[in-house]
Amino acid sequence: MAASGEHIKALVRSHAAGDDAAFYAVAMQVAAKAARQGHGTLAGDLKQTIEAARRDPVADRVTAIARPRGDLAELVTAAFPDVTLRDLVGPPVLKDEIARVLHEQRQRHALMDHGFTPAHRLLLEGPPGTGKTMTAAVIAHELSLPLLTVRLDSLLSKFLGETASKLRTVFEAAANQRAVYLFDEFDALGGHRGGNDVGEARRILNSFLVFLEQASPESVVIAATNHRSILDHALFRRFDLVVNYQLPDAAQAALVMKARLGPLGKGLRWASVSLKEGGLSHAELVQAAEAAAKQVILRGEGRVTTTDLNVALSARRTAGSE
Ligand SMILES: Nc1ncnc2c1ncn2[C@@H]1O[C@H](COP(=O)(O)OP(=O)(O)OP(=O)(O)O)[C@@H](O)[C@H]1O
Ligand SMILES: [Mg+2]
Repeated sequence: MAASGEHIKALVRSHAAGDDAAFYAVAMQVAAKAARQGHGTLAGDLKQTIEAARRDPVADRVTAIARPRGDLAELVTAAFPDVTLRDLVGPPVLKDEIARVLHEQRQRHALMDHGFTPAHRLLLEGPPGTGKTMTAAVIAHELSLPLLTVRLDSLLSKFLGETASKLRTVFEAAANQRAVYLFDEFDALGGHRGGNDVGEARRILNSFLVFLEQASPESVVIAATNHRSILDHALFRRFDLVVNYQLPDAAQAALVMKARLGPLGKGLRWASVSLKEGGLSHAELVQAAEAAAKQVILRGEGRVTTTDLNVALSARRTAGSE
């Protein structure tokens, strides 16, 4: 064995500290030791691997993306979400659509080799709290990509008149850094809200569409909105996929609450939980589950009851209708 216990400890320590230089230095020592012990092939392989890794350091690339620099830093926030497709509750057709995007993205080189483009421009639309932002996080996680959320509000208010050039910055980043780019609250761009000059809004939207048309299929661009009606209909054609979100039915509502309650929800008689009345979004159901769970914990008990949940659900419904 070429690496001694000391070497392994030093490797782990430098890795944990994020100290690449130290990590590679120790790895080179291991290679040197292997060479001294007469393991020439192992030593050669190891040296080559280290040199290749030094030339293309993943850690550097990831940090660069996680901490966008220059103009991009003002325009996007980065995250590495860990929510999975299984966590997303929705009708099979919705899950299938997302699974298809993931599949096309994973196999994008095979598709592109044959002259086809993987789905990479998605429009998510539906009521608040039904999983649009969450879907962007799911896609980022499932593809092991960072999620870069474009701060549309700041983009529009801070740089009035410069929006098109700021959009260019984001789309250029999308061509250079494979990631999921989320334009959340997209209607801020597409709609003619507030005191926004209609001509200016139109111009911004047009530049967005031009950039979208040319967007690199290496990155996934997602626009999310809950105002379908105010979006221009011509817009929908520009996306590879328009995903529609709905409020959950009773079965989906139970799944959402069950997932949030975890062990606290064991053995619950879901048939007695008033989910059929509907009206609550996934996000509100999560909040109701949390409210009930906290009550139970504070009472010093280990299980929520159907009454706890019904009380929390009706409180949510009242809050929502105010
Ligand atoms: N389909 C879903 N399945 C499971 N949990 C969900 C779902 N939708 C929402 N949630 C829960 O609610 C939270 C908020 O949802 P999310 O931010 O994705 O809603 P949204 O559709 O983007 O709403 P908005 O239109 O207000 O931006 C999520 O982090 C998650 O905990
Ligand atoms: Mg959202």
